[in-house]
Amino acid sequence: MRMHEIIIEKRDGKELSREQIDWVIQGCTDGSIPDYQLSAWLMTIYFSGMTRKEMFALTDAMTKSGERIDLSSIPGVKVDKHSTGGVGDKTTLITGPIVAACGVPVAKMSGRGLGHTGGTVDKLESIPGFRTELSRDTFLRIVSETGISVIGQSENIAAADKKLYALRDVTGAIDSIPLIASSVMSKKIASGADAILLDVKTGRGAFMDSLDRSIRLARVMVSIGENAGRRTIALVTDMDEPLGFAIGNSLEVIEAIETLHGRGPADLQKVCLELAANMLLLAEKADELADCRILAEKALQDGSAFERFKLMTAAQGGDVRYLDDPGLFPKAPLVLPVTAAKSGFVEAVDALAVGNASLLLGAGRLRKEDGVDHRAGLLLKKKIGDWVDAGEVLAELYTDAEDKGREATRLTAGAFEIDEKIPAMPKLIHARVTAESSATYD
Ligand code: URA
Repeated sequence: MRMHEIIIEKRDGKELSREQIDWVIQGCTDGSIPDYQLSAWLMTIYFSGMTRKEMFALTDAMTKSGERIDLSSIPGVKVDKHSTGGVGDKTTLITGPIVAACGVPVAKMSGRGLGHTGGTVDKLESIPGFRTELSRDTFLRIVSETGISVIGQSENIAAADKKLYALRDVTGAIDSIPLIASSVMSKKIASGADAILLDVKTGRGAFMDSLDRSIRLARVMVSIGENAGRRTIALVTDMDEPLGFAIGNSLEVIEAIETLHGRGPADLQKVCLELAANMLLLAEKADELADCRILAEKALQDGSAFERFKLMTAAQGGDVRYLDDPGLFPKAPLVLPVTAAKSGFVEAVDALAVGNASLLLGAGRLRKEDGVDHRAGLLLKKKIGDWVDAGEVLAELYTDAEDKGREATRLTAGAFEIDEKIPAMPKLIHARVTAESSATYD
């Protein structure tokens, strides 16, 4: 086969065969196809799209391009969860323990934060001692003993994706539904779970800001998962305003602890319970979603989900005293209030602007190799629908240096839209997509 012929076929809108796709991914993995041809090929996909058959073949080839995790030694239906990334999205810290407390094993690999979105691994590492790099055997042992373990994503999962993603990133080819879907799903399928719950974020702080495209992405990912023999459900959830009040690593862990005690922000609790209920349905804990919701609520209210979080933390080396007394978490030396310029109702809180402010404060990273300040971030004091008086605090910023605070203060102040009219409250869960149907929600 010749790479330039494959590029021309795709450029001209032809459907590529499985053999052609396998050959490209093989050449990507072994380095025999140069980056300039791979980049051109990715761009033809960006413009020409892919048929379902091509997406299934691409996902399969990428899944097989690296390490695959075998979870078969853990009894029961293993359900994975994936979020497409957001601001203040600490749902894994809450949903994972709820599901584990209901008897469903959670063996999860998560990512670090990049750009304006946070990552579960950084959040967990803000608990002193918590280790997210464990050997495969230790990971499986902890899941068997405690029902839950969350570790960092192995570098070798879907090896071809690493290279393709890096090329897409520097050539303007990230925002393509076939390429996003195959990238995400190849990593999920290689991670070994029997079933997958996808949390596709939509809105200003999400990867996809249009609801229509988010639902399309959800449908494509569900069909890829099902085609690979993994039961897959997607919820399309809101990311126009940040989830909860806390943004930043230890601030989010503290909010997750509060939520595991049943005292969390209403929006965060609602999304976590719905994600957990759908994971329980995938694990066949009950036949009806309504019954799964009851199981999830019970695990939150009776403290068993919090106990699971503690068990996992202890097993991964974390100091559980911080979970029992979140006041022990180190505080950022500077706390900067952002105040309202006028009175009115909060009409919008731009999650992208808040995520970027958090990045500037030190909570996130611009490049993969950067470190993060676990103490840095923001606490929102007002959210959509709240009344605010002129001069009242909208948010508190946590950082270690005045200069980091200046631009973050400007961004945060600009994130709030304030109006005299009572605003419409945002929908939290926009749609639920299954193999059988796609329904709008709420
Ligand atoms: N996340 C991924 O893992 N891949 C993409 O292509 C986009 C987001």
